Amino acid sequence: MTVVNTPELSVWCPDALYREQSNQLAHALSIGLCEGSQCVTPFYLQYSAQGLLMGTELKELGNPIRVDFVAGANAHRRKYGGGKHQDIAKAVGVPKKPHLRLLDATAGLGRDAFVLASLGCEVTLIERNPVMYHLLQDGLERAAGHPETAGIVEHMQLILADAIEQKNQQVDVVYLDPMFPPTQKSAKVKKELRYLHHIVGYDAVGAEALFDWAFAVAKNRVVVKRPRLAPTLANRTPTLALEGKSGRFDVYVKSAF
Ligand SMILES: C[S@@+](CC[C@H](N)C(=O)[O-])C[C@H]1O[C@@H](n2cnc3c(N)ncnc32)[C@H](O)[C@@H]1O
Repeated sequence: MTVVNTPELSVWCPDALYREQSNQLAHALSIGLCEGSQCVTPFYLQYSAQGLLMGTELKELGNPIRVDFVAGANAHRRKYGGGKHQDIAKAVGVPKKPHLRLLDATAGLGRDAFVLASLGCEVTLIERNPVMYHLLQDGLERAAGHPETAGIVEHMQLILADAIEQKNQQVDVVYLDPMFPPTQKSAKVKKELRYLHHIVGYDAVGAEALFDWAFAVAKNRVVVKRPRLAPTLANRTPTLALEGKSGRFDVYVKSAF
């Protein structure tokens, strides 16, 4: 599996309480471990009472990020986000088939997958970036220990892999949200996305290949999340598009549910 090969990132362990976990993570990612009161790399991963954080000394990126399904934005969206009336739910077909099997091939921070699992989908999440994978795995583990989220994350299975290498998936829907190149409005882009641009980057060729793979794998449909005014992925014309204030879901129907 890919290792993280960046001199920019290390595991920072200023608190001996987390030494064992930090050592294991540094080893799994093949990156350095900083144990001093300051970290020597611009980006760091750090275990804390709140879970695994990713932080940076770059001022423009702001405070550390982590995956939190129990509180914050994910919890707010679960409670007040509109349930089955949200565009994402309509795009994947939740109202037509409530317990559909969905493969989220670009898991990222797991926000979309969590919404879909909370609406009853059986979700397999694939993430190829090992840093994102570990942040997400940590968030899933913490959610599994909380009464409000345990019943949701038991329907989320995370895999560390390049989705294109995963054959024989038996799924109704494949969901894609590939990185989009930073725009002039990047300063306004949300903090999490700014981190993603640094850690994951943008891969246009990979995203096009991903579409072809997704269309072959999905039984019923492929859904692609795009910025509202962005061109379609791989220049493919969708069967229908659901457009919201800032984003759009392009739906490619293969067969009815
Ligand atoms: C924009 S983020 C997805 C955000 C996600 N929808 C969320 O709700 O948090 C895109 C993610 O897809 C991952 N990715 C891109 N191509 C992939 C592939 N072929 N296989 C697995 N993961 C991939 C990237 O590493 C990145 O973490």
